[in-house]
Amino acid sequence: MKSLVSVNDLSKAEILDILEMAARFETNPNPRFTCNKVIASIFFEPSTRTRLSFETAINRLGARVIGFSETANTSLAKGESLKDTITMIANYADMIVMRHPLEGSVRYASEIANVPVINAGDGSNQHPTQTLLDLYSIRKTQGRLDNLHLTVVGDLKYGRTVHSLIMAMSHFNPEFRFVAPAELALPGEYKSFLRSKSIPFAEQTDLVSGIVDTDIVYMTRVQKERFSEPMEYEKLKHTYILRNSMLAASRPGMRVLHPLPRVGEISEDVDANPKAYYFNQARNGVYARMAVICYLLGVEAV
Ligand code: CP
Repeated sequence: MKSLVSVNDLSKAEILDILEMAARFETNPNPRFTCNKVIASIFFEPSTRTRLSFETAINRLGARVIGFSETANTSLAKGESLKDTITMIANYADMIVMRHPLEGSVRYASEIANVPVINAGDGSNQHPTQTLLDLYSIRKTQGRLDNLHLTVVGDLKYGRTVHSLIMAMSHFNPEFRFVAPAELALPGEYKSFLRSKSIPFAEQTDLVSGIVDTDIVYMTRVQKERFSEPMEYEKLKHTYILRNSMLAASRPGMRVLHPLPRVGEISEDVDANPKAYYFNQARNGVYARMAVICYLLGVEAV
């Protein structure tokens, strides 16, 4: 039994195997085999893409899904503990997909459950399946993962997709440029991680110059739900707005990614630009999640 809580739970070879399987699911999204499992989808925080793409993936694999998307109708509302809740769900399901606002909560659940647990996002910590679909999208648009230059923009402090992406890309000799206001700069632990791997990175506050000479511009939303001071969020929420006119100076093959949802940081006039890839990126989530489920359940994908 193997859970996926952090992207570091996967080796480089395992990541590449999952991406290959995802490519096969993109070619054939309705596999002939039936995965005879019940999978619990339990979301303690709002989600559109992650929950629905997981549930689509489960359905496409022929498995069945149970779960909840908010806790008001569960016995958590009566005061049941997270430990007892996870123990119960593991009695019913063969796998648990879990999102929770507390960092470390999914690791805790994986230690309680006797079935694999997939982290669908835990606070500001990690979002490993988002990273797998990000890697899939990067490889698909760039033709490779190795030796790429990535510009990562926005909320690098609270953005869990950024934290997972940095760790996973460390296998592929990247170079990073981080664009963020000082208040939302990348936490020191991730900079230490990059230094320990001799991965070059630069930090700056200017977005316009950050777009040139890069292969990927990875935009992120300022994570309103992580702020204890609403005024601080109001001050920072519109720090960066990517506009179509800014893309003229970028490389022809550059692509704009965003884990979504966006709340103003990419202007809608970017959507029609062929460099905009974020909606395709979200669609790739179904294939990546089909692959992750099969990988963790030991299902041989055709
Ligand atoms: N990218 C992502 O996690 O989106 P949702 O919050 O809609 O699941």
